[in-house]
Amino acid sequence: MPITDALSESLQAHPLYTWTVLGVVVLGVVSFVLLSFISAPYGRHLRPGWGPTINATALWVIMEAPSPISFAVVYFMSDNAFEIVPLILLGMYMLHYVYRSFIYPFRMRGGHKQTPLVTGVLAFSVNIANGSTNAFAITELAPHLLSTAWLADPRFIIGVLVFFAGYAINQHSDAVLRGLRKPGEGGYKIPYGGFYRWLSSPNYFGEIIEWTGFALAAWTVPALVFAWFTATNLVPRAFSNHRWYREHFSDYPKNRRAIIPFIL
Ligand SMILES: NC(=O)c1ccc[n+]([C@@H]2O[C@H](COP(=O)([O-])OP(=O)(O)OC[C@H]3O[C@@H](n4cnc5c(N)ncnc54)[C@H](OP(=O)(O)O)[C@@H]3O)[C@@H](O)[C@H]2O)c1
Repeated sequence: MPITDALSESLQAHPLYTWTVLGVVVLGVVSFVLLSFISAPYGRHLRPGWGPTINATALWVIMEAPSPISFAVVYFMSDNAFEIVPLILLGMYMLHYVYRSFIYPFRMRGGHKQTPLVTGVLAFSVNIANGSTNAFAITELAPHLLSTAWLADPRFIIGVLVFFAGYAINQHSDAVLRGLRKPGEGGYKIPYGGFYRWLSSPNYFGEIIEWTGFALAAWTVPALVFAWFTATNLVPRAFSNHRWYREHFSDYPKNRRAIIPFIL
């Protein structure tokens, strides 16, 4: 079916869902353009003049928690909630997001910093949009996920492997950063080891790989849109981080790239 026909059919059948997915596509373009010129004012790019601020740990929980919560609410409203493939995808999503929303913020070293509230607004909205549309598509709009035959499909098998590879890279890279500071410290050092051999932001590289794998395994439009949004958000941020490292450390390894080993 041509994409325009599929879109108008979807708009007629599920207007809120379709507009939400389209909204995330557009927000991806907007954030890519904006973030290519202005680095989001949190972490090492924190600077005054961005309005009211909030404790960084609290902001992480407030902006990330809507993702697993909205996913779970929409997911368990479906009669298909206990089908095996959707349950596996639910598990993958929750593995990442329960950690990111409720554990990661309390493990961060530097979470005592104040961060402008505005940095969480986009993330808060997109997290609700992604959580709810992904759960709806997985349980209600993807007949292929309701058959156990999908477990043997190469897209599912490769997608799951790619997801876990990305998850491992993301987790390990975040752990390296955590290890650079003692509790209560807030300064910056050059990270070494793992994918830091090749990249300035391997945690972002891992995150993009992760959601690309999820999109392959789920084979739904919102999962693809989520991977797209993750990349539009994190690629420009990785370039800002890369520039920042080079400006702040004269001995920064010259062979490191920003976000894709040996290429970018
Ligand atoms: N799906 C998405 O769209 C999305 C969007 C954003 C983030 N994320 C994920 O969320 C996680 C955190 O993101 P982030 O942007 O905060 O990552 P980040 O800038 O790499 O920072 C991660 C943590 O490490 C600290 N840190 C960073 N560089 C350091 C260094 N050189 N020396 C010492 N400490 C350092 C940071 O402290 P400071 O805060 O004090 O800088 C922060 O606590 C990542 O895994 C990322 O993939 C996902």
